[in-house]
Amino acid sequence: MKRVLSVCILSGLVSGFSPANVSAKALSGQEIFTRSCSVCHSVAPPPKAAPPIMPLASRYHLKFRTKKEGMNQIVAYLKSPNKNSAVDPQAITRFGLMPALALPDAELSAVAEWVWDQYNPNMGMGQGMGRGAGRNR
Ligand code: HEC
Repeated sequence: MKRVLSVCILSGLVSGFSPANVSAKALSGQEIFTRSCSVCHSVAPPPKAAPPIMPLASRYHLKFRTKKEGMNQIVAYLKSPNKNSAVDPQAITRFGLMPALALPDAELSAVAEWVWDQYNPNMGMGQGMGRGAGRNR
């Protein structure tokens, strides 16, 4: 009897960690991006129907000093896109205004954090590539 019990407990533990249960967990920022954003956004150029995320992340890093400020701005934009608060207003002219996204706050901040983290200093707006690409628009 004791043995049967411990086998049950063990198998319960094992299935608790199996990949089949991953979907029950909160989604990561990357998973939310893939599900809710990647229809329109690529991560790196070339663009799909919206500006790619990496150069956007550079703009956020240029404009905001802390991750918290940057994330707050991204979350606010996802809830209510508008020209006045856009870090890249030219993108609105080029692609049209992004539709507001009705996602739970926890998902918005997870995906905002992921966007912020896509910043790649080697591709920075400050030098070479970023500036040049900007001028050609
Ligand atoms: C239906 C297409 C579409 C979807 C889905 C979409 N976006 Fe966008 N997004 C756009 C377009 C178009 C722009 C450029 C115009 C603008 O800024 O409104 C944009 C702009 C942005 C910007 C730049 C805002 C700024 O300040 O300039 C960020 C950041 C962003 N999107 C993140 C996301 C994230 C994160 C998701 C998913 C949770 C997402 N987008 C889903 C179309 C989309």
